Amino acid sequence: MGGEVVRGVEWEGLRKHFGEVEGRTLRELFAEDPGRVARMGVQAGDLFLDYSKHRVTDETVGLLVALAEKAGLRDAVERMFSGEHINVSEDRAVLHTALRLPADASLHVDGQDVVADVHEVLDKMGAFAEKIRSKEWRGATGEPIATVVNIGIGGSDLGPAMAYEALLDYADAGITARFVSNIDPADLDGKLRGLDPATTLFVVSSKTFTTIETLTNARVARSWLVDALGEDAVGKHFAAVSTNAEKVAEFGIDTANMFGFWDWVGGRYSYDGAIGLSLMVAIGPARFREMLDGFHTIDEHFRTTPFEKNMPVLMGMLGIWYTDFFGAQTRAVLPYAQRLHRFPAYLQQLTMESNGKSVKADGSPVEVDTGEIFWGEPGTNGQHAFYQLLHQGTRLVPADFIGFAEPFADQAGMHDILTANLLAQTSALAFGKTAAEIAAEGTPPEIVPHKVMPGNRPTSTILAPKLTPRVLGELVALYEHVVFVEGVIWGIDSFDQWGVELGKKMALGLEPALTSEEPPGDFADASTESLVRRYRALRGR
Ligand code: F6P
Repeated sequence: MGGEVVRGVEWEGLRKHFGEVEGRTLRELFAEDPGRVARMGVQAGDLFLDYSKHRVTDETVGLLVALAEKAGLRDAVERMFSGEHINVSEDRAVLHTALRLPADASLHVDGQDVVADVHEVLDKMGAFAEKIRSKEWRGATGEPIATVVNIGIGGSDLGPAMAYEALLDYADAGITARFVSNIDPADLDGKLRGLDPATTLFVVSSKTFTTIETLTNARVARSWLVDALGEDAVGKHFAAVSTNAEKVAEFGIDTANMFGFWDWVGGRYSYDGAIGLSLMVAIGPARFREMLDGFHTIDEHFRTTPFEKNMPVLMGMLGIWYTDFFGAQTRAVLPYAQRLHRFPAYLQQLTMESNGKSVKADGSPVEVDTGEIFWGEPGTNGQHAFYQLLHQGTRLVPADFIGFAEPFADQAGMHDILTANLLAQTSALAFGKTAAEIAAEGTPPEIVPHKVMPGNRPTSTILAPKLTPRVLGELVALYEHVVFVEGVIWGIDSFDQWGVELGKKMALGLEPALTSEEPPGDFADASTESLVRRYRALRGR
């Protein structure tokens, strides 16, 4: 699947074309083509993408689309949506898109009625969430639940945590959520502060239910609860989300309060299923389903829209353009919405755990760079931190700006200032300011070079009416499919994550060495061994 297009005829055509585009400026491209902006805008659901401020011409877009066609993207999309085992290294289907199929859709995979399974879990989650929200569910002392503490890490944390923050204004039942992930005890300690065990529900979220951080945090949380309310309280204060019922039962959580999913949902693609339980409790099942509709809208757009107007395809191919032709290393994601402050962190796992690969799906080495490095912070904060480098630094950093029309609360004036900043930044990045323009303002000649704004720095602007559950679903699905598009071109398996396993195994091996007199053994090189000894000494061991 894909991969073979790298360095093929279309690729080399793009390379030649890159030679022609590299020297062009956005100022020139805009000046010579008044129709550019109208052509370089696409709509997908509630999302509008303006990609006119990219260093592309119509020919570039045509060549990128042709490359996608040649890579078999169309076929690859169908293979994913229909449940083929495209996660080859784990021999699994990749069906996060099934998590948001409407109840009347039909999809059978490996002999299973996937839609029925998905909706059975959604209904069970909905009933559970409603019981908690309506205060029918009572804790061991008869009090209703006031706080849900999700214990999970990676995909079992970043998705629900990001979405909870994003949709805080929809948390209407007076139930708050907190998210514990780190094995650093400071995390759990901080999140438990001020909580009353009698009104706290823990949701232990782990696809495998073997992740050391999650199980350790869950054990400590369990002791915290049992110390206050006794062993019998566990059933009323612990639920689990997992694919592994056996381990959940072993841990001591009643599987009646377990919400399942399947091996065809990757951890980083899972918060729109049961991993979103804590979010669902906070915002309610109806809003959660609205979010799923948003995901599904973009799934349909991705599956059916011609590539020239297909938002994930265009954004993914632009990622290829900058990564493999311009040599860009990173992509900044800059939401002009404080509520999306965890969105870049969420995208880091989604994109980098998916596409940070050095071999193709068939095990042969990749021939070009893969895996954009995603990073970012909300605007306008980032403007006062790292935008200097974006504007005048030596590196090319393509950036996605995300904005919303409707103000937060009734502060329309503040919101307009926020949006004006977004627009000002993308314009300054694209068109800059020349030495002549700066000199004409009376700037002393020796200062002029410092003030020159080179421009020609590419950005996407994604604009949506309002940050609603539906729009959040659309945004997340958009980036999920961007990852897919890039993965197909590179020919990699975007759905495994073998690179995180070795470190986990080594940590398990090293932990005893930190607490005993024993030499660290096979797990330590000379540097690590010396650090183990230094750590022990500092700990007085
Ligand atoms: O860090 C690797 C990883 O496997 C992620 O892919 C996953 O989201 C995370 O660990 C948590 O795994 P689990 O949900 O099984 O606890």
